[in-house]
Amino acid sequence: MEYLDLAPAAHAAGTVRLPGSKSLSNRFLLLAALAEGVTDIRDLLASDDVERMLGALKALGIDWRRGEGNDFVVRGAAGAFPVKQAELFLGNAGTAFRPLTAALALSNGHYRLSGVPRMHERPIGDLVDALRRMGADIRHLGNEGFPPLEIRPAPIRAGGRVTVRGEASSQFLTALLMALPLTGAGATVEVAGELISKPYIDITLNLMARFGVAVERDGWRAFRIPAGARYRSPGTVFVEGDASAASYFLAAGAIAGGPVRVEGVGRDSIQGDVRFAEALAAMGARIDMGPNWIEARAPAGERLRAIELDCNHIPDAAMTLAVAALFAEGTTRLTNIASWRVKETDRIAAMAAELRKLGATVEEGADFIAVSGRLTFRPGVAIDTYDDHRMAMCFSLACLGGVPVRINDPQCVNKTFPDYFERFSGLVAPVIAIDGPSASGKGTVAALVAERLGFHYLDSGALYRLVALAAIRAGVSLEDGAALARIAETLPARFEGGRILLDGTDATEAIRSEACSAGSSKVAAFPAVRAALLDRQRAYRQAPGLVAEGRDMGSVVFPGAALKVFLTATAEARADRRYKQLIDKGMSVSIDTLLQDLRERDARDSARAVAPLQKCADAELLDTTAMTVAEAVAWVVERARQGLPQTAAP
Ligand code: DC
Repeated sequence: MEYLDLAPAAHAAGTVRLPGSKSLSNRFLLLAALAEGVTDIRDLLASDDVERMLGALKALGIDWRRGEGNDFVVRGAAGAFPVKQAELFLGNAGTAFRPLTAALALSNGHYRLSGVPRMHERPIGDLVDALRRMGADIRHLGNEGFPPLEIRPAPIRAGGRVTVRGEASSQFLTALLMALPLTGAGATVEVAGELISKPYIDITLNLMARFGVAVERDGWRAFRIPAGARYRSPGTVFVEGDASAASYFLAAGAIAGGPVRVEGVGRDSIQGDVRFAEALAAMGARIDMGPNWIEARAPAGERLRAIELDCNHIPDAAMTLAVAALFAEGTTRLTNIASWRVKETDRIAAMAAELRKLGATVEEGADFIAVSGRLTFRPGVAIDTYDDHRMAMCFSLACLGGVPVRINDPQCVNKTFPDYFERFSGLVAPVIAIDGPSASGKGTVAALVAERLGFHYLDSGALYRLVALAAIRAGVSLEDGAALARIAETLPARFEGGRILLDGTDATEAIRSEACSAGSSKVAAFPAVRAALLDRQRAYRQAPGLVAEGRDMGSVVFPGAALKVFLTATAEARADRRYKQLIDKGMSVSIDTLLQDLRERDARDSARAVAPLQKCADAELLDTTAMTVAEAVAWVVERARQGLPQTAAP
């Protein structure tokens, strides 16, 4: 069995650009396939479930092609699928299986649909019954009420009323609604029983409207598709980031400090799962939201607290709450989650079993789960994932309990989020921030510490130096903050095996010139330049960890760093070191001039209004005046081994 070991982590912070939403991706694909005209779908999710839909559409005669990155162009069939006989294998993709069943039942062809064994345990009888009542000829090839299915050509009674049960899965209603315009005769769909997961129906109606079919809704009981309704491509559509996937990162921020920001969903999202953020807020997390982003931080000075929540409106993201509950004071009770039992796995049973492995007290019922919090986590637990992407992603959060966690079969995340663990590791990878004045030797020390620990290394000063060099070369004034910020935003710089490249040419030596040294400290005083370089610096935070050196690593760029060191030496000692370096290189300099330059630079770096050079209150002071490089490195490595989660250091 494959597995992934997550190191214990204490803090999570950073920004994650979300992959496209699965729900939106597969709906857009089907609507574009049935519509008249060509649809340009931007930012489609690249994942197994979407591949299943794409493969099925190709087999059914839909012409689509991949453009740049995750952009797709789909030429619609302007009605039912052109291919009238096909065998489709749909893996475990419910968002492909259910809507395709309905659309194919109304396509007057002969089709077989099958999936992985688990797909054959997931009910589809309610949808098949509704379609049969309209005249569709559908047979269950295995167990009654479950896939695989065979669909044969049959005359469809259109224009009337059709009833579908709403308790098991909202996807049945979604499937019917999306398929019914194929009849051209209109219809009214009535929902029997309670409709679960209503926000997913909102998504369906929203997207259908964008493709020109406005469904009239009477509460959540009846939905009328007007006669003559036809799908027409709206041209270009953008897939929002996946709001369910956002839940893991936001929970990490709420549990372990933060801030964690997700980009791609926010206040303007049409996905119900953004309301997961409200649940976190109810637990005490600090949440901020913009139109297209959400940010989560831990409560100020207190712990998360347990909640009781009816989760009908956030069925998928609610799983994340069950794991966040481990970190909260009290017992969290999540109700109205019966649909968990018929998802990729029986999620209530799976969740309860794995939470108990970590040491939690869990109560489960037909449609609820209750999880006690403030856990002493059992270390080294191996979490089973049940071929369920959400189980794997949820339980990554357990490493924030300060224990190593093994995730079995981690590749199940490919269903919706193939690079989930890389992104998650980036948020929780420990950072060692080393700040200090010019020529203090922090660069040498930081690089050696990174090497010893096997961590990534960020020389943030080099970025400011590169901006200065690029400006000097382009003839841009070092006083023109706006022009400098533009350079910083698009800085064509790369770090490759100890070499620093600007515009593809080696600038390693050039950025160390006295002109660049003085220039960089001027450039660095502009807030817009600093802002333009912020995300670039944070992107260096990657597993297994990062050593970052500069002036504001601990104060601004990585305020949640696991270890902060303020590394300094007297100005005389620093001038002396620099003097010896230059003499060794055969350059003639005066030590007095060097000392004066250093003092000027110190003054400018310390006195500037934004991110001045300073020792943060929580940084440890390392005065290297009387130390060798080896001693300084040993000092930091020792601190790191004491202070970092144990497996982060070898
Ligand atoms: O560390 P260094 O000497 O290479 O840095 C060059 C200049 O960049 C320095 O004068 C101050 C500035 N700098 C900064 O303002 N913030 C950082 N994090 C790193 C460097």
